[in-house]
Amino acid sequence: MCAAMRPLTAGELATQLRLQTPVVQAGMGGGVAGGALAGAVSRAGGLGTVGIMAPPVFAAALALARRLAGDRPVAANLLVPFVREAHVRACADERAALVVLHGGLGRRWIARLRERGLHVLVTVGTQREAEQALAAGASGVVAQGDEAGGHLLGVEPIERALPRILAAAGDAPVLAAGGVAHAHDVARLLAQGAAAVVAGTRFLLTEESAANDEYKRRVASARSTIATDLFGVGWPLRHRVIANAATERWCERDPHGPAPLRAALRLSAPLGRLTPLRAMSGLAALQRPALPLFTPAVPLAGMPEASVDRCALYAGETVTRLGDVLSAASALEQLAP
Ligand SMILES: Cc1cc2nc3c(=O)[nH]c(=O)nc-3n(C[C@H](O)[C@H](O)[C@H](O)COP(=O)(O)O)c2cc1C
Repeated sequence: MCAAMRPLTAGELATQLRLQTPVVQAGMGGGVAGGALAGAVSRAGGLGTVGIMAPPVFAAALALARRLAGDRPVAANLLVPFVREAHVRACADERAALVVLHGGLGRRWIARLRERGLHVLVTVGTQREAEQALAAGASGVVAQGDEAGGHLLGVEPIERALPRILAAAGDAPVLAAGGVAHAHDVARLLAQGAAAVVAGTRFLLTEESAANDEYKRRVASARSTIATDLFGVGWPLRHRVIANAATERWCERDPHGPAPLRAALRLSAPLGRLTPLRAMSGLAALQRPALPLFTPAVPLAGMPEASVDRCALYAGETVTRLGDVLSAASALEQLAP
């Protein structure tokens, strides 16, 4: 295996990322994790990540994050069904310290990013997916547990998945995602062998995240989550959300949503690959709780409050332990082991 294709060791990753706190803020796509959040997390000594958006907005957010982060590194997150060549260019031009892929193996994108000299981690839920990612040239993996918020590759709790994925990864770094609310969660996953942890819901509940304020309020007061397929138009991958009018209308009998709808959603997968991200957000404005055709779009700051009842409210099981909206720097400080 040539040096460029060799996975990083966990030690090499730590050196390159210069993390003062071994915590990566998850790249939350569709606009939630923009430049302000990623820049604030990196500046405070963690690793901030810009989530996927339409390419020009994504490039501008990466540039803003780099500016706010000072001399500290910033990462990017790409969702495989929605990646375009322009996203790869933006990651290279803005010198992302790391690119995390989610939502599929994305062999082509691993190769394109690695050709540009970028480190690539692939999000996985199983040992087999970890082996495939590393064989395809990934620098390491993010192991996701099924308690995580957002789209789920995780199929079992992170504490059970992590040892199997570490065994498959050999010397390559494994980051652990799912269920991180407090410093003791971070310490436990590091003690199990994770090179760092990834936290999403904790950073969704920050002043710098661009989620709609009513979405943040509902997550902060939620006491349970639902793993569903409901918001799957164009991307039929299971996802963890909190309840809203849409789930109350369609998930009462079966949390996954009505069975005929799930079959239709599976057929809608090409729509996601072919529709630009900007157009997907436009479709979200037409959604109504009474009509079960929901895209993966999230309610952002500036959208009407009603969007919170017709879009996915992604959040993980840590909602039972998180109840406050903090600055990103304070959230990171609370996670420092
Ligand atoms: C609001 C939200 C949006 C997310 N969007 C993405 C995304 O675009 N890409 C991605 O790799 N993971 C995404 N995730 C999942 C995270 O990467 C991570 O696996 C998860 O947040 C970890 O669990 P936690 O929420 O308990 O911290 C998202 C999570 C949340 C809560």
